[in-house]
Amino acid sequence: MTTPLRLGIAGLGTVGAGVVKIIQSRANLLAQRSGRPLTITAVSARTRDKDRGVSLDAYDWEDDPVALAQRDDIDVFVELMGGSDGPAKAATEAAIAAGKDVVTANKAMLAIHGQALAEAAEAAGHVIRFEAAVAGGIPVVKALTEGLAGNQITRIMGVMNGTCNYILTRMEGEGLPYETVFNEANALGYLEADPTLDVGGIDAGHKLALLASIAYGTKVNFAAMDLEGIERISIDDIRQAADMGFRIKLLGVAQMTGRGLECRMTPCLVPAASPLGQLEGPTNMVVLEGDAVGQIVLRGAGAGEGPTASAVMSDVIDIARGIRVSTFGQPATALETARPARASAAAPYYLRMELEDRPGALAKVATVLGESGISIDRMRQYRHDSPSAPVLIVTHKTTRDALDHARAGFADTGVVAKDPVMIRIEMV
Ligand code: NAP
Ligand code: HSE
Repeated sequence: MTTPLRLGIAGLGTVGAGVVKIIQSRANLLAQRSGRPLTITAVSARTRDKDRGVSLDAYDWEDDPVALAQRDDIDVFVELMGGSDGPAKAATEAAIAAGKDVVTANKAMLAIHGQALAEAAEAAGHVIRFEAAVAGGIPVVKALTEGLAGNQITRIMGVMNGTCNYILTRMEGEGLPYETVFNEANALGYLEADPTLDVGGIDAGHKLALLASIAYGTKVNFAAMDLEGIERISIDDIRQAADMGFRIKLLGVAQMTGRGLECRMTPCLVPAASPLGQLEGPTNMVVLEGDAVGQIVLRGAGAGEGPTASAVMSDVIDIARGIRVSTFGQPATALETARPARASAAAPYYLRMELEDRPGALAKVATVLGESGISIDRMRQYRHDSPSAPVLIVTHKTTRDALDHARAGFADTGVVAKDPVMIRIEMV
């Protein structure tokens, strides 16, 4: 009889309950694939008597996830509570100190504390695996750490937050304003407990920071990311983008350049006909480019019970099989500190401005753009009832520095009513 791999699962919400269901529903298949049985020893959550749609009678219960992590009768601590600090971090640290391997879906914790946690685990001869933390059911962590390990990764690009993509595509599809769709997404349970993590781009930024670390052998540096959410995107922006043959996506891009590591998670216009442009609803897409392999496109469910639990199980099965890949694909102590670099490659930009409706206003804006070295490709002014006039400008290729110069200049014109919305056009 082979020795079972004994799990302690902390967190029995969407993902945790999904993991228990998979383990209960296909024990033989999992044992065959793992080469040994997978058993759950004990579980933990906040409320013991909650109906979770799955029987927990066969497992010990721990009120305290730290106590669960320290039990002698578990081999792997499965952290599915969430939160960058608090009980998730305390229990993960306790598990490492107690000599356990860790599987987690917690991108927030790893984006902030991943380096320290990985170093601690590896010093103790243990692993932390996190397939479920990035793009839900899409096996992108495995693709980077294993499938593409022979490549220099030239670029990572992707839509990695299902909630934002749902909001943007529903606004376009139904012609609904941001606030209405945001409330709808909330009612559907798509939003994180703190919705600013989703719509502020932070959740997707955490995911990109983790992938960049694996791809470029660098310490996770979420703080250096160029980050902007979708809160300022209006239905007008979406309509105008569509008129011009584009869709707006919260797009992540990471690439190593001669100046350092560029990492940005910002709204971008992408061609409507491109694979990224056609991505609907809460689906995720990650594009990986390697010098030997060329381009790989991974698409699938970025969230939800089944897809995320599926990713957790792939890590658990790896550990059961004896596959022990370092957290970021190489020893954590060997990861370098990357020099963060701002995106410098020129690109066309879409600008939405609110101008005072009076003679000379447009001329002043055009002058500021000219003085900033920015050339106008297209421009439109819409009929309006308000005192300020909405004006849309598409520029020829320009840089972020030039746009920052123009933004400062706009403030001095006295005709720009609000800070302009500026969205990069990415010809993916
Ligand atoms: P969730 O539904 O809110 O579940 C969280 C679970 O953690 C609940 O069972 C909760 O207990 C438990 N919990 C919270 N604080 C606790 C504490 N102090 N002590 C013990 N248990 C505690 O969250 P989720 O959606 O399953 O997400 C879990 C993790 O997976 C998060 O890191 C999340 O970012 C990540 N993730 C989620 C998805 C997704 O689609 N949901 C996708 C990818 C990654 P009660 O049930 O008793 O309240
Ligand atoms: N809130 C996240 C999303 C869950 O919408 O993509 C999956 O990480």
